[in-house]
Parts: sequence; C-alpha cells; structure tokens
Amino acid sequence: MKVACVLGSPRANANSSILAGRFCETAQRRGGEVETHVLNDLQYQGCQGCMICKTKLDRCVLEDDLTPVLNAVREADVVVLASPVYFWDVSAQTKGFLDRTFSYLVPDFITNPVKSRLKPGKKFVLILAQANPDEGSFTNIFPKFDYFFRSFGFTETRFIRACGVGGPGEVESRQDVLSLADRTAEELIGNRLFGEK
Ligand SMILES: Cc1cc2nc3c(=O)[nH]c(=O)nc-3n(C[C@H](O)[C@H](O)[C@H](O)COP(=O)(O)O)c2cc1C
Repeated sequence: MKVACVLGSPRANANSSILAGRFCETAQRRGGEVETHVLNDLQYQGCQGCMICKTKLDRCVLEDDLTPVLNAVREADVVVLASPVYFWDVSAQTKGFLDRTFSYLVPDFITNPVKSRLKPGKKFVLILAQANPDEGSFTNIFPKFDYFFRSFGFTETRFIRACGVGGPGEVESRQDVLSLADRTAEELIGNRLFGEK
C-alpha cells in the first residue's frame, strides 16, 4: 500500500509531525510504502481560481513544488495530513495544499454524483495538534476534511488529535495518542505481523 504523508507544521520536532511519523513507522513495518512531504520546505502558490482544471486540463495548471505532492496523493492508497491548529484551523501551509486539491474535482462536481478524478476507495487520516486541552474545542475541523476527502472518493477517514500539547515534542509523553496512531496504521494497512493474533 502506498502512503502519502503531508506535513503542515513549520517547526522542527512538531507534535503533529511526530504523530504522523509514528503512523508511518507502523505502516512501514506492515509493508506500507511511505512518501513524506514537508510543506514548509516547499515553494508553492495557493489556488489561483483560474478554473483551468475545470475548463482545459484534468489537473492543476500551476507547476511548482506542490505538483509532486498532488501527484503523490493521486497515486496513494492512504493519505496522511498532519497540521498544528493555528487560530482554530489548520496552518496556512496546510490550507494552501488543501485549496490546490480543488483540481481533483471534475468540472461538473456540483451536480455529478462522481465528483472526483481520483481512483475511489482511498483512506484518509487527519492528524492535529493543539495547545488547548479541551477536547470540545475546534471540533469543526475534522468534519470539514472528512467531507472534502469523501468528495474526492475516499471511503475511509480517521482522526487523530493531541490536545494540550504546546511546546515542540510534548506529544512524546502522550502514550494514549501515540498508541492511537499505531492502532490506526495497523487497522488501515492491515497485514498482521508474524506471531500477532
Ligand atoms: C500562530 C499560532 C496559532 C495557534 N493557534 C492555536 C489555536 O487556535 N488553538 C490552540 O489550541 N493552539 C494554538 N496554537 C498552539 C499550537 O497548536 C500548538 O503549539 C501545537 O502543538 C502545534 O503543533 P505542531 O507542534 O505540530 O506544530 C497556535 C500556535 C501558533 C504558533
């Protein structure tokens, strides 16, 4: 299984990236092929709203560092998107990526029941890290991504969130969320390891 991992935090030792790394290590142990893209290292534009992906091309007309990331998502069986919560939402880097995924939608996506140019049946994992310890906060973020990625033809979506992590690396002591990352990878990639029940 191909796993495309997209990291939206700008900082080193980021909590969201650590959780994504944990998911990917477990996925790799189970035979997943992982390709990771760090958005903050890339030079790319936000969607220009030019509509060329709806009128002339079946992909985004912009050719920049995000092009290989968009292609990796096209090829992947599992897409992992990790972001810090910034101002009650995902980071700007993550939003810039998200807007460019508009190119996955067919021209008549509003009326067409098949809205996506992507192969159906992919799996999506959203990972978020936030300083606020309240699990009732920012609960609107995952449902939006769930809706968008299901529109792209994804059939399984999962959510992993670390609440109450502020400083870099703080999530390392959060066994509950780290285990959830392991478990989610085990469930999505399948392939039991030798000796496992
Ligand atoms: C610009 C900025 C905005 C932030 N906004 C929020 C917020 O709205 N809610 C929150 O709980 N934490 C907020 N935080 C804290 C981060 O979500 C927190 O430090 C998180 O661990 C960062 O994830 P990362 O380590 O993966 O980058 C913000 C941090 C920054 C720098």
